[in-house]
Amino acid sequence: RTVYLNGKWLDEADAKISIFDRGYTFADAIYEVTAIVGGKLIDYPGHSARMQRSLGELGMVCPLDADELLAVHREIVARNNVEEGMIYLQISRGVDDRDFVYPKEMKPTFSMFTQTKKVLENPYVKSGISVISLPDWRWERRDIKTVQLLYPTMAKTQASRQGADDAWLLEDGFVTEASSATAHIVKKDGTLVTRDLSHVILPGITRASTLDLAREAGIKVEERPFTLEEAKEAAEAFNTSATNFVLPVVSIDGQKIGDGTPGPITKKLRDIYVESRL
Ligand code: PDD
Repeated sequence: RTVYLNGKWLDEADAKISIFDRGYTFADAIYEVTAIVGGKLIDYPGHSARMQRSLGELGMVCPLDADELLAVHREIVARNNVEEGMIYLQISRGVDDRDFVYPKEMKPTFSMFTQTKKVLENPYVKSGISVISLPDWRWERRDIKTVQLLYPTMAKTQASRQGADDAWLLEDGFVTEASSATAHIVKKDGTLVTRDLSHVILPGITRASTLDLAREAGIKVEERPFTLEEAKEAAEAFNTSATNFVLPVVSIDGQKIGDGTPGPITKKLRDIYVESRL
């Protein structure tokens, strides 16, 4: 693969980052994941806007301007001939001696790579996924997309070891989100319920797009916290994320959701999402 690091196009074997990089020592870095389908960037404006917001919350500035940022996104897809997959972008605060206090001015480390993945023909779309519930033990600024992903990796690994596909995380009895996706349910009356935006969840770009499309399709949307009990009683459940779009959830803690197969509203939302983005 050809990757991008601090203004240079390099073979992946030649892309080297200092062991003093604050992304490495302190997870002092933000990231974005943008899907690619048919060589096209999906929901790029949302991802670049959220990247700017994450940087702003941490007092960092993107080393590229808006035009340059779009240009490197397009170029990395072209250089790697990616038809379907994703772009991973990371910006760390930069390199310095290990000190908890960060200097006012630092030169950020900007890296990007691509990864191929079957985005459209994801086998889990037909089967749906199973999730287990786990406590949400992440820090409380989950609205910033930082690379502090240890807990989500532990949660998803635990789910996998138990034979499930993902974890839905719980705080004070309410579902916050999935380990790396937004969690949604559909009530028996067809209303889509999803957690309202705050510092406890990431403002998902696919979430925003899906809610817009749902409202346009005449589906009622409630943005509010919902409990694990309400989720287990729901007619349907699904996750949204950049690389999985709308992904049906068919069981929670071993309990079937609805009839245990992907629900009609979930399928419809995935179809209209795919159609609107291609
Ligand atoms: N994860 N919530 C969390 C905690 C996430 O990590 C993600 C995305 C989402 C969905 O956001 P979006 O729709 O903007 O992708 C929600 C990415 C895909 C990842 O870490 O791979």
